[in-house]
Amino acid sequence: MKELKFKNGDKMPAIGLGTWQSEPEKVKNAVKHAIKNGYRHIDCAAVYGNEKEVGEAFAELFNEGVVKREDLFITSKLWNNAHKKEDVLPALQNTLKDLQLDYLDLYLVHWPVAFKPGIKSFPKNDDDYASLDEIPLEETWEGMINAKQKGLTKHIGVSNFSPKKLEGLMKATSEIPEMNQVELHPYLQQNNLIEFCSKNEILLTAYSPLGRASIKPQINNEEKEALLDNKVINHIAKKHGASPAQVAIKWAETRGTAVIPKSTNEERIVQNIQSTGINLDEDDFKQIAKLDLHHRFVDGSFFITKGNPYDDIYDEA
Ligand code: A2P
Repeated sequence: MKELKFKNGDKMPAIGLGTWQSEPEKVKNAVKHAIKNGYRHIDCAAVYGNEKEVGEAFAELFNEGVVKREDLFITSKLWNNAHKKEDVLPALQNTLKDLQLDYLDLYLVHWPVAFKPGIKSFPKNDDDYASLDEIPLEETWEGMINAKQKGLTKHIGVSNFSPKKLEGLMKATSEIPEMNQVELHPYLQQNNLIEFCSKNEILLTAYSPLGRASIKPQINNEEKEALLDNKVINHIAKKHGASPAQVAIKWAETRGTAVIPKSTNEERIVQNIQSTGINLDEDDFKQIAKLDLHHRFVDGSFFITKGNPYDDIYDEA
């Protein structure tokens, strides 16, 4: 399997297990099964509401001697309610407690969206949001740098950040984000963002790499094929004796991004990591390049209301 390399030489296995929308009662088995079947990279977040169960899986695996802490690459994310500089460390400490760890490998600012401190998970009304003037991303980033300096995380980065927002942070600080985790799949290829990050030595992780599997994109009121039902993807899969999901994962790995397919199903967890064993050829890449719809399944619209300060999360309007 490919590995991504940080500037200090640390390495991150390209294929990891995603845990967004993994039910708490299923995620512990999913993480244990994944690690017993070769995964060494697990992607978590406080807001997923399942870090305690993920932490139980880690503790049991360490106790059973299946892996050591240092064999794993573990990511988590700062939720929007802890963007004030002084709130970053307590949020990270909470995550570490839930995950039963002393440090993370990577901690990310989950969204370029801030809530007023004290808001539980999601805002109930417009006043629960703080604008980026009230709590600037640069302030949150200072908290992240502090967490890294304290040794609570080896690397720091962001998620769902546009080139414009990355540029803003890069202007304000000498410590630039090491990672940007964003939605990436054949229906949302984001070549400009990939080029921008590569130029600036920012690594990328592809979330929802299966295009949400069986969810059909709606484009201008027209329903398209779900990514895993797409004819081109299925044709390529057949050609290589692989599954459509394996084609999507291998495509992401070959592009040089990390990729974190979510599954709680034992068979699919194994199938997904085995995608590293297939080889896509030049023609496959040409065919997949034509599938780009610039379609976001996770469009951030859940943070946009008429009266709050957010209207263009991805700076694309
Ligand atoms: P499940 O957990 O039951 O396997 P994405 O990572 O793009 O957001 O997609 C996640 C969805 O894809 C989940 O519903 C997950 O369901 C499903 N999934 C994961 N791996 C596969 C696979 N190999 N084939 C088909 N569906 C998959």
